[in-house]
Amino acid sequence: MVVSFVVLLAGGAGAAAAAVAQPVPLFVFGDGTLDVGNNNNLPGDEDVGDPPRANHPYYGIDFPGGKATGRFSNGYTMADFIAKYMGYEMSPPAYLSLSGPVNMDGFTGVNYASADAGIRNSTNAGLTIPLSKQISYFATTRSQMESKLGRLAMSDLLSRSLFLLAVGTMDLLPDCNYFLTFPPSPPDNKTEVQRLVEFYNASVTSLYGMGARRFAVVNVGLVGCGPTVDTRRGGGSGGGGGCDARMNGLAAEFNAALGALLAGLRSEKRRLRYSLADFYAFSNATFANPSAAGKS
Ligand SMILES: *[C@@H]1O[C@H](CO)[C@@H](O)[C@H](O)[C@H]1NC(C)=O
Ligand SMILES: *[C@@H]1O[C@H](CO)[C@@H](O)[C@H](O)[C@H]1NC(C)=O
Ligand SMILES: *[C@@H]1O[C@H](CO)[C@@H](O)[C@H](O)[C@H]1NC(C)=O
Ligand SMILES: *[C@@H]1O[C@H](CO)[C@@H](O)[C@H](O)[C@H]1NC(C)=O
Repeated sequence: MVVSFVVLLAGGAGAAAAAVAQPVPLFVFGDGTLDVGNNNNLPGDEDVGDPPRANHPYYGIDFPGGKATGRFSNGYTMADFIAKYMGYEMSPPAYLSLSGPVNMDGFTGVNYASADAGIRNSTNAGLTIPLSKQISYFATTRSQMESKLGRLAMSDLLSRSLFLLAVGTMDLLPDCNYFLTFPPSPPDNKTEVQRLVEFYNASVTSLYGMGARRFAVVNVGLVGCGPTVDTRRGGGSGGGGGCDARMNGLAAEFNAALGALLAGLRSEKRRLRYSLADFYAFSNATFANPSAAGKS
């Protein structure tokens, strides 16, 4: 999965050497697979309660220092691993942990990802930073960059930066989003997946409009095998052992539409390039053969 991102970044042996010397900035959008502490800084909501926060043990037990940092992981997250492959020590900092305007000396990028966030604003509303809000935070970062660098240098830097997105899982979990409907529904008779992918289109288009050109996108995994899924609902044999087949089917449908969207955007938009990581196949292979991934 990570390999294809590195190829996208490098584009050739000479560029690879340059990328190692001075990595391009990384901007990160999405959910808990990428969050490095934004949710720790969310105030919560009187009516809906506290956001999910990975600020207590045993989160972080394998992280340098062994401390919980807001990562929903025992150690690094996917954003950290990708940043490491780019030549950084770890993910750029969480947007909500920054104490002032971005500093362009040694600038590594910004991470806007928020655990449990969705493409839709209504997904886990009040508990996360939805994708649209993450993008509006990026717009703020961008104007800070512009005031420090000037428009031309900012545009040049953004056109070389990597925009990493992993989102959609939370929108596909019916428990998190009761607007979810499987069949096409009025007034436009679109399916939920079609609607989500239209919002995804609007999100990528908005980033492109602000100067993003290089995208690294992670699709959704086996959402029907998640620990919160009620496996009685879907009748069965999705990815084997206690998975909801219908939900995994929905994830596959979403991923197919996402793949088509990105291919379409590439042909519609000048200089847009992307790499799509197949998290579905990765998690499917892991469920099929857990011992190969170290589970005894
Ligand atoms: C989310 O809310 C923002 C701000 O109100 C709005 O501009 C955007 O279209 C909404 N997006 C989705 C996906 O609902
Ligand atoms: C949606 O489906 C209904 C029922 O089949 C139909 O009457 C209506 O014209 C459809 N709407 C659109 C926009 O296609
Ligand atoms: C993205 O959305 C725009 C505006 O609705 C549309 O014109 C464009 O064709 C869409 N692109 C893809 C690849 O779906
Ligand atoms: C998922 O795993 C099953 C069983 O190992 C395999 O037959 C199937 O092709 C895999 N599907 C995908 C999309 O990788």
